[in-house]
This record gives sequence, structure tokens and C-alpha cells, in this order.
Amino acid sequence: MTTKTSWDVLVVDDDTSHRTMLKTLLTGWGYRVFEADDGSNAIEWVQGRPFDLILMDIRMVKVSGLEALSVIKGINPSIPVIIITAYSSVESAIQAMKKGAYEYLTKPLDFEELRMKMEKAMDHSRLRKENLLLKEIIGSHFDTRNIIGKSPVMINLLETTSKAASSDATVLVMGESGTGKEIIAGTIHFNSRRKDNPFIKLNCAAISEGLLESELFGHEKGAFTGAIRRREGKFIQAHGGTLFLDEISEMSMAMQAKLLRVIQEKELTRVGGEEVIAIDVRIIAATNKNLLSEVQKGNFREDLYYRLNVITLRVPPLRHRKEDIPLLAEHFLKMFSEKNGKSFKGFTPQAMDRLIKYHWPGNVREMMNTIESAVVLSGSEYLSESDFSLLPDGTHHAAPGDQPVPNLPLEEVEKSTILKTLETSGGNKSEASRRLGITRATLHKKLKKYGM
Ligand SMILES: Nc1ncnc2c1ncn2[C@@H]1O[C@H](COP(=O)(O)OP(=O)(O)OP(=O)(O)O)[C@@H](O)[C@H]1O
Ligand SMILES: [Mg+2]
Repeated sequence: MTTKTSWDVLVVDDDTSHRTMLKTLLTGWGYRVFEADDGSNAIEWVQGRPFDLILMDIRMVKVSGLEALSVIKGINPSIPVIIITAYSSVESAIQAMKKGAYEYLTKPLDFEELRMKMEKAMDHSRLRKENLLLKEIIGSHFDTRNIIGKSPVMINLLETTSKAASSDATVLVMGESGTGKEIIAGTIHFNSRRKDNPFIKLNCAAISEGLLESELFGHEKGAFTGAIRRREGKFIQAHGGTLFLDEISEMSMAMQAKLLRVIQEKELTRVGGEEVIAIDVRIIAATNKNLLSEVQKGNFREDLYYRLNVITLRVPPLRHRKEDIPLLAEHFLKMFSEKNGKSFKGFTPQAMDRLIKYHWPGNVREMMNTIESAVVLSGSEYLSESDFSLLPDGTHHAAPGDQPVPNLPLEEVEKSTILKTLETSGGNKSEASRRLGITRATLHKKLKKYGM
């Protein structure tokens, strides 16, 4: 996946003309280039700021590339360093690799090879950078392991989620069905000071009006027919922890009034009882309706709305964060392959394209179910478009038997698929190889083979 971040590259070479040439070349490729005229200058740079990649000549007069490499690796072991050696002196290259160089290239430089090796190094760097970025934004103690997504809207949401987690405020989570409201609620609880106490869930729509009060507040023995013993409600079960009230909009007006009182007073009495019990519970409520318009329609109490809505989190529908679709798809593929003891190499580009184009009215849950069923039913190495033939693709409806079979030799099909994928990946070979489900090396071999 291409990102808009510019990648910072440090070019280290004491040969000014070579350095300038590299700077011009790399700037043209979209990198932000910094220059160092010898090893010690490079070390100073690395001490001062992070880089995504270092390109370093091995033979320099003052401090050699090999010496600088050791020091740099000591300062920041995660920066990939590509060594350039003037003579195809395998020996110094091997030495450099032993000291932790990522790759080496020989002069005169083959620009295509340079570009390829830089991109490959960037793939590593990129992953690390994305993880770091997320950690930096969200705080190192905020564990979002379960939540997949790196779209700006999701990063934004996670940022607010982390602030919500560090407070004790009531939270209202809004979002369409299947967007991940519950997973967000759980993330808040398990990152809050209440994490060692219970996280209790109650779906307000799943319980009949008559039983909801007793579910929430508990009841005394004999409170109603069938109440053969005292039972504690969800509020008491959640003491010290968090109570997740799902589908809050489905609560009756009478129940809303009772809930409001408990939230305000921070105490309750069991149904049919007298005893007043103090409670310490944080509430997270969720709804897939627009709660404010429910207030305006007179279906939801305004005072309760404002009580619940101290912090509002809006979980965006999947169609508004399409860049998360490939990540989620891979995540679910892995998850269900493991569960079903199957192994897949990935998705074909056409299959992924279809997943991206579809508008997912049931959001992440629908996608999860779709991939689970494809995993169970498919018998091939890659999940292909035909495994998702039931998904309308927005342009036409293709039944499994409908797909045109290209009347071409297999090699031609492969060649044109590679070309098309490269085109739709903006010429980015890492991205293209990812979409094709092959390694960059394989892609390279094929390009060579087909003279592309
Ligand atoms: N960003 C995500 N990363 C990984 N899994 C996710 C993500 N969002 C949702 N899921 C998964 O999708 C499923 C649906 O999510 P969840 O139950 O949180 O949605 P919801 O908004 O509460 O849905 P509903 O409105 O139907 O109750 C869950 O299995 C959840 O684990
Ligand atoms: Mg839910």
C-alpha cells in the first residue's frame, strides 16, 4: 500500500559529484534526501533524527562506511543501511552484511536495481513506521491489538478512544451495525484503570421490557413470580468495572428514567428490595441509531442522552474507510484459515478489487462472515473472484459460470495480469507483488522473463 509519507534517506558519500547525482536521482523518485560527506557526519545525522534508509559508500577517507555502520547500528539498529562498494569487492560487502547492512550494491550503480532494493528496504521500514506512528499517536500503553485499521478516520477514532480510556467518563458509541462498536467499548475498558475488574455487557434489545429492570439492578427473593432467590443485576456484577449497554435506543422510556436515576445517584435498589447499594460502574452505551434524532422524535429522554453522551465516538462505516478493507481481509483470512486448518496464499487481485468495491452494508461483521464462508468453501491456493461471486460488484452481477475465460495461452494471461496489476499499483512493484500474492523476487523474475 502506498502511503503519502515522504521517506527520509541519508546519502553518505565523500565523492561530492556522486552524492549530488544520487540526490537528484532519489529526489526524482520522491524521496526526501539528506547528505553526509563522510562517516562521522553520517553518525551525527543519525544521532539527531530518524531516517527511513541510509545509502552509504563503503570507501570514504575519514571514517569509512564499515566503521560508521557499526556506530549507526548501535544508535538505531532499525534503520536499513544499503552499502555501496566501488569495486565489486565481495569481501567488504560480506563484512558489511555481517555488521548489519541490509543490502549492498556495486558501482557503477544499476539504477533499476538500486530502486528495487530501496523499495524492498522501505517495505520493512514502512511497516515499522506505521506501527510506531500508531503507537505514538495512541500512547504506548494503549493496546489496540484487536482493532485492525490504519485509515485516517480509524486513527482519529483510536486517538479519541485512547483519551476516553484514560478518563472515567460515560461514553456513547455510535455507528452502523457491524462497524465495531463493541470492540471499541472493550478496548476502552481493557485500557482503563478498571481493566482488572469486570467488563459486563447487556443488549437492551434482547431482553423483554419486564425483565430488563431485574437484569440491570437485580431482584430480591419473591420480588415476582419465579424469583425464588435473590439475584444480583449487571450493575453489581460490573462493580469497579465497566457496563456496556448495547442498543440503548431500544430501552423503554420508563426504564430510561430508572437508569438515569441510578447513573445520577450512583446507587440502586434491587427490584422488590429496600436496601440502597452504592455502585461504582463506568457506563459505555452503544447504538446504531442516531440518538439525537430519537430524542427529537420523543423516543429517547433528552436528559439521559446528555448523561450518556459525555464522550461520543463515531465508528465510521467500512465504505468510508476502504483502505482498511485489504488489511481486514488479510486479517480474517488468516484467522479463519487457522480455525479451519487450511492455508491460503492470499487473494487474487480481482477478488481483492471486488472486496474493495463492494459497499458492505453490514460493515466489518458482513465482511468477516463473507471471508469465513469463502475460506470454508474454497479449495484453491488463492481466494479468487469466484469465491465472492455472491457479492454484487456494483457494476454488474457475475454468476460463477458467467466469467469470460480468456482464450489465450496461460503465459499471455499471466503477462497481462502482471501488467494490469503494475498499472493499478501505480508502478509500485512492492504493492503489485503483494496484490499478486507473489514475492518481489518472483515478480522481478517474471518481468525479466517477459521482457517487461
Ligand atoms: N477494526 C476491526 N478490526 C478487527 N475486527 C473488527 C473490527 N471491527 C469489527 N471487528 C469484528 O467484527 C465483528 C463486529 O464488530 P462489533 O460486534 O464490535 O460491531 P458492532 O458495531 O457492535 O455491531 P452491532 O451493531 O451489530 O452490534 C466482531 O467480530 C469484531 O471483532
Ligand atoms: Mg454490537
